Amino acid sequence: MLWLVDLADLDPDPIVALRAWLADATGASPQPDAMAVATSTRDGRPSARVVLLRGIDERGLVFFTNLGSRKGEELAENPRAAAVLHWWELGRQVRIEGPVEEIARDESAAYWATRPRASRVAAWASPQSEPLSDREELETLLEDTEERFAEEDVPLPGFWGGLRIVPEFLEFWAHRDDRLHDRIGYVREGDGWRRERLAP
Ligand SMILES: Cc1cc2nc3c(=O)[nH]c(=O)nc-3n(C[C@H](O)[C@H](O)[C@H](O)COP(=O)(O)O)c2cc1C
Repeated sequence: MLWLVDLADLDPDPIVALRAWLADATGASPQPDAMAVATSTRDGRPSARVVLLRGIDERGLVFFTNLGSRKGEELAENPRAAAVLHWWELGRQVRIEGPVEEIARDESAAYWATRPRASRVAAWASPQSEPLSDREELETLLEDTEERFAEEDVPLPGFWGGLRIVPEFLEFWAHRDDRLHDRIGYVREGDGWRRERLAP
């Protein structure tokens, strides 16, 4: 367990601070980049699922998905998300909230190129979030897709790409004894960030 003792232990830039916590989690946690992402419909019905955090820079946090999936559809009608990373082994949690934008197509293409062929074929084959009659239907879709791309490279589908959560608020939480945990919030203010300690 690592302790967050003081505001001074966290970089004033939350992206730098988050990178540092991700580095601490790497090796300590079996899946340090697993991030729960909540979206909601226009009328405020929420849904959440885990995705992999695949990029982080000053612009925000990027994950990749099928843009026609349930999350993709919800983000199309209400382009805001909340996300959580939790590292049990470190007693730490980070929350992120903000608007969501699609990343540039060339950035999605660059990531797509790093994915194994089987994952690329599967992305084409699976109409993510759509009902299937049974497992066999998925296997048939996969066979058809393998046949379609047998002679060619598997291109980036138009319905697949990276989404970036542009943080407006982040919170760094660290376990302390007797439930008196440390919570440091970062609120975006113009070009910078205001920090505040929150009651646990
Ligand atoms: C550890 C883990 C990592 C996952 N990573 C991704 C991911 O990076 N992208 C993705 O679309 N789905 C990922 N999934 C699957 C999603 O949780 C979810 O089932 C899928 O995206 C469909 O969600 P939706 O119907 O709400 O759109 C992951 C699931 C788990 C458990």
